Amino acid sequence: MQLKEQIQEVLAQINDLKAQNEKELEDLRIKYLSKKGIVVSLMNEFRNVSADQKRELGIALNKLKTEAQNKINQLRESMQNSNISVDADLDLTRTAYPIPLGTRHPISLVRNEIIDIFTRLGFSLADGPEVEDDLHVFTKMNFAADHPARDMQDTFFIENSPNDIAKNVILRSHTSSVQARVMEHQQPPIRVICPGRVYRNETITARAHCFFHQVEGLYVDKNVSFADLKQVLLLFAQEMFGKDTKIRLRPSYFPFTEPSAEMDISCHICGGKGCSFCKNTGWVEILGCGMVDPGVLELCGIDSKKYSGYAFGLGIERITNLKYMVKDLRLFSENDERFLDEFVSAN
Ligand code: PHE
Repeated sequence: MQLKEQIQEVLAQINDLKAQNEKELEDLRIKYLSKKGIVVSLMNEFRNVSADQKRELGIALNKLKTEAQNKINQLRESMQNSNISVDADLDLTRTAYPIPLGTRHPISLVRNEIIDIFTRLGFSLADGPEVEDDLHVFTKMNFAADHPARDMQDTFFIENSPNDIAKNVILRSHTSSVQARVMEHQQPPIRVICPGRVYRNETITARAHCFFHQVEGLYVDKNVSFADLKQVLLLFAQEMFGKDTKIRLRPSYFPFTEPSAEMDISCHICGGKGCSFCKNTGWVEILGCGMVDPGVLELCGIDSKKYSGYAFGLGIERITNLKYMVKDLRLFSENDERFLDEFVSAN
């Protein structure tokens, strides 16, 4: 057969090529395009072609080679496409590439900043469970058996044993439960902060939510005084909100601290002049604090004659509101990316 006819025949074969799988495709590639393949061997015969046919056959051979390559590529592509549609692991709901880089949640940003400030002051981190028992949330924190916080209206119950409150399992309503957990296992000096989520049975509005975040602080050692507490809190407020920030302590009551106080800072939004955020007082409350009640130390196995301590608990949402002027608490848990993308920070 003449070279010209051979080329025609191979061209026709190539047009009809089919492959069911990778192996068949590879066999075809070897058969036609490898060094010993049909196309190359036809090209080798080009040397013997008479001069007057060189031009015509040269073009035909080149066309054959390109057609063969195209066909193999085309078969490979359609095989890959069909593989995708049968791949059981393929997740069609996955975000398309390029996956955009997220930002940290504002609550995490502020929590990290708070942790950063207190660890520089020598505090270490402690942790406790969110699903807690009555013992750590209430009993060891000196709550009376009939304290209203123990009521279902205020606290979420996982298990409720009306006749034996010691058996109650609840969602912790404050991070003070971690105070009890730490003191049970460690003798002074204790200097910890415990960031975490807490739950309260509240109707969700712009100003209240059924879960939020706190950072608890606990310092127990010999000769710890209220002045130590005040100075640490002042340092914290100035690190967080700037050197000009002022603090004031108002007497308050918590079952687990004596004396107890609530701390306000000069309003970060209006600089203390008065605005809607601080209800024109110039001050905003950010935390509760006090000297650890000696009864709590004893309940947790610490000698209250030898040691004293202070504790504080601050709300991360409150601080975030002030820092970023977020007025509606619900925004923090709605996962609206337009809101979340507004918070960009180095940490
Ligand atoms: N646990 C208190 C609250 O949730 C805050 C607090 C912590 C007060 C530690 C005093 C000492 O409101």
